[in-house]
Amino acid sequence: MYSEKVMDHFSKPRNVGAIDNADAVGEVGSPSCGDTMKLFLKIKDDRIEDIKFQTLGCGAAIASSSMLTEMAKGKTLDEAIKITNTEVAEALDGLPPKKLHCSNLAADALREAIEAYQASR
Ligand code: FES
Repeated sequence: MYSEKVMDHFSKPRNVGAIDNADAVGEVGSPSCGDTMKLFLKIKDDRIEDIKFQTLGCGAAIASSSMLTEMAKGKTLDEAIKITNTEVAEALDGLPPKKLHCSNLAADALREAIEAYQASR
């Protein structure tokens, strides 16, 4: 029921962990299941130089977080803030309908981190 890409990112998640002295942090919880995600960004010249995540969640949430970090790395903040959960799910070759909400965590955490960073400057 999961695509090969979901299984790949779930079993070998990219960019797991924390960043010391991160320039921005976003933390969100899913109201529907209680799972949480924390995202750390290192930003240079308004570009995401490094990104790491810690997700306490289901396989789809972990795969979405991993995919999101790959999509966001190297992008400018203006580009990265536009990444939607639908794009994350599409990059994973789709998620089962019941698991679509899991991709919200990653996109929401990224938006929250970028907005907090921009507000603080
Ligand atoms: Fe909670 Fe997937 S079931 S994020």
